[in-house]
Amino acid sequence: MTTVTKPEGAPAANAPDGFLSVRDLQVTFSTEDGPVKAVDGLSFDLARGRTLGIVGESGSGKSVTNLTVLGLHNPLFTKTDGEIVLDGKELITATEKEMEELRGNRAAMIFQDPLTALSPFYTVGRQIAEPYMKHRKVSKKAAWERAVEMLAKVGIPNPRERAKDYPHQFSGGMRQRAMIAMALVCDPDLLIADEPTTALDVTVQAQILDLLKDLQQEFGSGIIFITHDLGVIADMADDIMVMYAGNAVERGTVDEVLRAPQHPYTWGLLNSMPRLDSDLDTPLSPIPGSPPSLLHPPSGCRFHPRCTFQDRVAGAAGRCVDERPLLGPDRASACHLTADQKRTIFIEEIKPRLA
Ligand SMILES: Nc1ncnc2c1ncn2[C@@H]1O[C@H](COP(=O)(O)OP(=O)(O)OP(=O)(O)O)[C@@H](O)[C@H]1O
Ligand SMILES: [Mg+2]
Repeated sequence: MTTVTKPEGAPAANAPDGFLSVRDLQVTFSTEDGPVKAVDGLSFDLARGRTLGIVGESGSGKSVTNLTVLGLHNPLFTKTDGEIVLDGKELITATEKEMEELRGNRAAMIFQDPLTALSPFYTVGRQIAEPYMKHRKVSKKAAWERAVEMLAKVGIPNPRERAKDYPHQFSGGMRQRAMIAMALVCDPDLLIADEPTTALDVTVQAQILDLLKDLQQEFGSGIIFITHDLGVIADMADDIMVMYAGNAVERGTVDEVLRAPQHPYTWGLLNSMPRLDSDLDTPLSPIPGSPPSLLHPPSGCRFHPRCTFQDRVAGAAGRCVDERPLLGPDRASACHLTADQKRTIFIEEIKPRLA
């Protein structure tokens, strides 16, 4: 069983439209070297019909967070605290049977590598039909028809014929489409897409992104979209959450975060990522240093060992080393700089470098 302790005095989960609400989430893995706190006090909301983009360097806890929402960690090695409420249902305390009922039905996930979701031993059509048959209790024939319909929806030509193929008979882009068809077959309210297009070439990537947008329009699902690509986020998401070392450091609408980012880590990310509008010769500057070990995370602000703005923070010397900055509600960034400083530094020192 997953160990559960409710955060003391935590606010009752209350998403804007009561859809997905995560409060003070903590995920700790026991490893041979000691406990790894992969997610540490994370809170966010997702409204129905909206897309939340999650960005952050490798190891920041993006996948762990979302696998936790779907209850996909091995409970023997994982301790999960906090609250995850989906449409009024608390998921951390849910039984494995309840989570099984949820997965593939109300909530689904698509991954970077479709072969993690598709079995090589069954036809594509059968793999799409099965969750539909199980959750909707329909006949084999009706489920098969639904699979063919879904393959058509995701743009597979000759869907009736192709449904009889095995995954290895599909190209990479088609396998990705098939996995999306499988994820959406039961019309989930929540879709989590973890780097769904990273492995695809640019043309196929654009087609898949368009497909996801169309399907969201049609099904009205809430989508969590994880990617390293800020261009994709700008295109797909309504809101952004920037993660660093197991927590959110900045949150806001896409427009707010991309036009007026407030956190030194977000500035570093923007500076290190190719921009849609930049020419290919613009040199990129990676953030100096590397993400911290989650076995022994830094004290205070976890970003402080890599941050070049600490000496501008008002108050006691070493505040960033001693005191963890918290993320407020709504538009927020977890940094001890004042709101004025964040605005001025971005406009005067960071923005000119991005242009
Ligand atoms: N089962 C596990 N046991 C121990 N540590 C784990 C486990 N799964 C993930 N971690 C650790 O948790 C941290 C967060 O991992 P996660 O996979 O969420 O990163 P991510 O942000 O998705 O990175 P990427 O962009 O590379 O996919 C990493 O330090 C990772 O090593
Ligand atoms: Mg990941």
